[in-house]
Amino acid sequence: MSLPVAVLISGGGSNLQSIIDKTEQGILDVDIRMVLSNRAGAYGLVRAEKHGIPTATLNHKDFGSREEFDSEMVRILKDAGVEAVVMAGFMRIITPVFLNAFPGRVINIHPALLPSFAGVDGQGDAAEYGVRLAGCTVHFVDEKMDHGAIIIQCAVPAYPGEDVEELRKRILVQEHRVLPQAIQWLATGRLSMHGRFVRLDESSIPAAPADCTILVNPPLEQGF
Ligand code: GRF
Repeated sequence: MSLPVAVLISGGGSNLQSIIDKTEQGILDVDIRMVLSNRAGAYGLVRAEKHGIPTATLNHKDFGSREEFDSEMVRILKDAGVEAVVMAGFMRIITPVFLNAFPGRVINIHPALLPSFAGVDGQGDAAEYGVRLAGCTVHFVDEKMDHGAIIIQCAVPAYPGEDVEELRKRILVQEHRVLPQAIQWLATGRLSMHGRFVRLDESSIPAAPADCTILVNPPLEQGF
């Protein structure tokens, strides 16, 4: 049986699209019951509608507190039969009111290698810092921003002085791979959380080739 999920968005929804596409291709065992945005006019809502997925818009500014906003989200998602929640570009911190409604079943994608560069502009902050490796992280959500236990990370190279938009794009391509992968692991019950550690049942994963296990940028010269 497919896992009934909701996807929370605030913007363009390209990560949402990657989830929709992999679901329609039969690679991802989820049933997207609802796409919820805190911003009216978010293009991700149009993407959902094009695929016949129910949508909801809930403006956080219409609520007196984060808790009130979260409990209305919970009501809507529970009504839709949602059991797990994917935050895909959803730019809000959620409270225990929300987390307690879906314990161990809320995940988020962040466009940086956490714990570096948490916050609203992970890619911009990494570029400005001059990192040589940037990337993205999918993690379980807790009450602190971009903080919960890490499920998967992917690194990409960063180059001095490059246009941050180039870095953003390079990271986004990988976001579209690792987020659906993490969702599939969740949907098939292969993740278990032990404090900060997330264990993956790796029985069906092929061993990574040796040259896949490290990433160095700039590349090492011969002999090093
Ligand atoms: C992504 O980079 C996501 O990691 C970040 O916001 C961006 C949203 O992109 N939090 P999209 O809406 O999925 O296109």
